[in-house]
Amino acid sequence: MAAPQSLFVRACKAEPVERTPVWFMRQAGRYMPEYRAVRKQHSLIEICKKPELAAEVTITAAEVLGVDAAIIFADLLLPLEVMGLPFHFAAGEGPRIEKPVRGSDDIARLRTDHAAELGYVSEAIRLVCKHFGNRLPMIGFCGAPFTLASYMIEGGGSRNYIHTKKMMYSDSAAWDELMGKLVAVTSEYSAEQVSAGADVIQIFDSWVGCLSVDDYRRYVLPHATDLVRRLQKTGAPIIYFGTDSATLLSSMQKTGAEVIGLDWRIPLDEGWRLLKNRGAVQGNLDPVLLFADWKELQPRAEDILRRAGGRPGHIFNLGHGILPETPVENVKQLCRFVQGNRDKLT
Ligand code: CP3
Repeated sequence: MAAPQSLFVRACKAEPVERTPVWFMRQAGRYMPEYRAVRKQHSLIEICKKPELAAEVTITAAEVLGVDAAIIFADLLLPLEVMGLPFHFAAGEGPRIEKPVRGSDDIARLRTDHAAELGYVSEAIRLVCKHFGNRLPMIGFCGAPFTLASYMIEGGGSRNYIHTKKMMYSDSAAWDELMGKLVAVTSEYSAEQVSAGADVIQIFDSWVGCLSVDDYRRYVLPHATDLVRRLQKTGAPIIYFGTDSATLLSSMQKTGAEVIGLDWRIPLDEGWRLLKNRGAVQGNLDPVLLFADWKELQPRAEDILRRAGGRPGHIFNLGHGILPETPVENVKQLCRFVQGNRDKLT
């Protein structure tokens, strides 16, 4: 672990801190000119696979913004490749999985013994940790089994998750097998990230909000819980993040994750209340508010801090990732604003 005494790590453990730590999901990305310059020379996958480049992009974003944590530059879908499912990013579109998983034969073929081939991500984490020493905590991440399964089955992004839900409903043995394989690979991969220096692991369950509470509990919760428990053996606190998740929050908390990510659709204090005010929460400004003028943005950020009320265990973030056209100046100003707010917390 790089910075176990940092504000961010202490806030993840719901310990009292002098001020609210802040970082942003997707803080390194296309909205940032420095990233676009690197992207001109290299594809996204090339950046991910070259530890020096991934480390540079990670470090630059954290330093330009002045945030309280760095998140390793990688992509959620990298584990698919080592499981035997190649994918690519089509120009102007999202990811495309070449041969989507549609049945038990496809699932049987998926490999779980090649997670070590993702070692380039841990290598990049090592480089970032070497750069920051204990000055900045490091976040590793992986996809949650549901969200990764949805990409594997749909073959890319989806609107209605028809193939995914069809498998869940019609062949629950195949579904459980797939989820088990994803947990095996992502738990090994994330534990490697912790060994390389990551202080905290964030599990992205970006699309889990398409499920009813009953389906979440039946088809997802046991596997997400298995993943969280395995990762907790590393000693790193776990952030479990989903969107459209207001109805799922108390079930998501049953995984045992120390921090629950809140999207912007629910007021922060209401979300925390649904979690019985236990543990820590991360969020939850609408990323589109970063397109507004500062005079609109500031009171909205203030409102989130007010709702958190200085209680231990709030990490300021957006309710989802920074969008490509976001004005960088607003992101920087928001970061400074949150960091300058220490008086209001006592
Ligand atoms: O700020 C950072 O450190 C970014 C690192 C990062 C990337 N992907 C790089 C990336 C992270 C944390 C991710 C996670 C990710 N990837 C998620 C979950 C996060 C979330 O927002 O819910 C998902 C669903 C993916 C899969 C993925 N990767 C999609 C759907 C896309 C295409 C959509 C788009 O924005 O174009 C990507 C591409 C991608 N991954 C980009 C980046 C910076 C942008 C494309 C590029 O640079 O060419």
